[in-house]
Amino acid sequence: MATKPDILVVVPTRPKQMEMLESAYVLHRHDKADDRDALVKEVGEKIRGVVTMGSKGLSGDLLARLPNLEIVACGSVGYDTVDIDGCKARDIPVTNTPDVLTNDVADVAMALTFDIVRGLTRGERWVREGLWRDKGMMPLTTTLTGKTMGIIGYGRIGKAIAQRAEAFEMNVAYHGRTKQDGVSHAYFGSPEALAQACDVLMLACPGGDETKGLVSREVLQALGPDGYVVNIARGSVIDEPVLLEFLKEKKIKGAALDVFENEPKIDETFFALENVVLQPHVGSGTEETRDAMSQLVVDNLAAHFAGKPLLTPV
Ligand code: 8YV
Repeated sequence: MATKPDILVVVPTRPKQMEMLESAYVLHRHDKADDRDALVKEVGEKIRGVVTMGSKGLSGDLLARLPNLEIVACGSVGYDTVDIDGCKARDIPVTNTPDVLTNDVADVAMALTFDIVRGLTRGERWVREGLWRDKGMMPLTTTLTGKTMGIIGYGRIGKAIAQRAEAFEMNVAYHGRTKQDGVSHAYFGSPEALAQACDVLMLACPGGDETKGLVSREVLQALGPDGYVVNIARGSVIDEPVLLEFLKEKKIKGAALDVFENEPKIDETFFALENVVLQPHVGSGTEETRDAMSQLVVDNLAAHFAGKPLLTPV
């Protein structure tokens, strides 16, 4: 019988898929190791595959210590934490998990939009903290009907968010690297121009160097005191200290954020702000979707080791 390939688990999959991996491979648990350095020293040479996720990815340092690596199966759609250039240089394919999470992430994007604009969790606090009883009605909020959502990153998730925004009778505009053919929504050539034209600036682009700090002081200024920002992409896409300044000084109306710099130890300045809605990176966080994402990890590895085409190479 052929020997089972050795796989380094940097971030595990869901339990059922871990069982599948356990039966097909020899797993080495980087995620559980007390001494990760010692583990890599011991098994690094024989590792042929890595299982990971956007939270940890695969660093250049670790990649360099896996000289016989053949594949990286990333269990998230975002792979900005995987050393893609290093993998490319060594012809190591990387797979991710597009499509299966699109609807859940778009749902959270729309829910965050509704929440920050209509004050849903604020209203919840108003009731729980006795303010309704003591102070009366909560201040009025803003309607979504007829407002414009400006989406940065008009890929699969961006388009799914657009569909939902239209169901709320919002107008939709977008910015991306290029204007897309066959799209009826207005295209803006820069994030500033889009921010200027919209009420809700929705971030749905990939993370990584190309989009780092894309939502800058200038963009938030263009959004203005009546504008909201919603981020389901990556914390790195916004210049976070500038965002905090704009929120504190009410230079924008509010922010609803599923992603942050330094997750999960996020800047605690956020905690004291009234004009934010905060979520712990739950865009894809349903059992169904996380199972489907995990299954893609399993299926991509199986395809690779069977010499078949990968299902979802990046
Ligand atoms: C993951 C995500 O839950 O797929 C992505 O890129 O951001 C989420 O779906 C996240 O990467 C887990 O850390």
